[in-house]
Amino acid sequence: MTTYAKLVKNLEKKVKEANKEINVVKWLFYNSDFFCGYQNLNTEASLEDINKLEIMVNHYLYDNMPPQYILNKAFFFNYTFYVDDGCFIPRYETEQLVEETLYRIDDRFLNKNIDIADVCCGCGAIGITLKKEVLNSNVFMCDISNSAIEITKKNALNLNADVEVVQGDFIQPILQNSKQFDVIVCNPPYIKNSEKLESIVVDNEPNIALFGGIDGLDFYRIIFKNFDKIIKSHGFMAFEFGYDQRKLLEKLINESLPYKYEFLKDYNNLDRMLFIYKD
Ligand SMILES: C[S@@+](CC[C@H](N)C(=O)[O-])C[C@H]1O[C@@H](n2cnc3c(N)ncnc32)[C@H](O)[C@@H]1O
Repeated sequence: MTTYAKLVKNLEKKVKEANKEINVVKWLFYNSDFFCGYQNLNTEASLEDINKLEIMVNHYLYDNMPPQYILNKAFFFNYTFYVDDGCFIPRYETEQLVEETLYRIDDRFLNKNIDIADVCCGCGAIGITLKKEVLNSNVFMCDISNSAIEITKKNALNLNADVEVVQGDFIQPILQNSKQFDVIVCNPPYIKNSEKLESIVVDNEPNIALFGGIDGLDFYRIIFKNFDKIIKSHGFMAFEFGYDQRKLLEKLINESLPYKYEFLKDYNNLDRMLFIYKD
């Protein structure tokens, strides 16, 4: 008899032998729609469920597919987002960016009606989460990728978030309409063009979501240049960036902006977040 527990063990063994991440087996099973509940792990697995889990694990093993694309699910801040290979998979570090942004929204704008933008929105994780968590907010989201825009719209609908979603090149949709925001959050592509990434990332996730120029900072240069045009007084911008980019970014801010800024580390103690405050 093959129990669910045994099925998982067998598949973990297979994944370990292939030198891949064994936790993926549990992640796929526990988050699948046929998960039997922890209390039933020692009951007999149906042939159908055995088949389904084996197929999913094979996608990970032999197609090198990220588990989130296999299940079409990414968990972010207590919400479940639909994802597929048309969008970037939201990362844990970005949840922290959202959390730190929420603290600062509370500090500056508690109970006020505010305008928020999520630039380079991907599947919509940042902007939709902010819309759900900040009661009095209007949220505008944009991305250059058609598929990301469609996925964001789908997630907004699934999660019942009333947000505006627009396709366009970086901050063009904001500049063209002379929009201004109290808060802009941006997790742009920031990997250096020359950097070698794990194959599971570079072979699956849209490359347009990853690379940000020779030093990875092309998007920050553009947005810093336009900071005054697009941020309201007393507003702020929040960014994610690469763990080794703090020095370069700091130089860039000092050269281009007269405002206070703050760098924060992520839970792995790596430089990761930047906040810039307009007065
Ligand atoms: C690192 S991903 C971040 C996605 C999402 N904000 C998140 O945190 O999960 C960067 C995003 O920037 C988008 N992007 C790349 N180039 C762009 C451009 N020129 N204008 C607007 N968006 C762009 C990509 O399509 C991708 O969705």
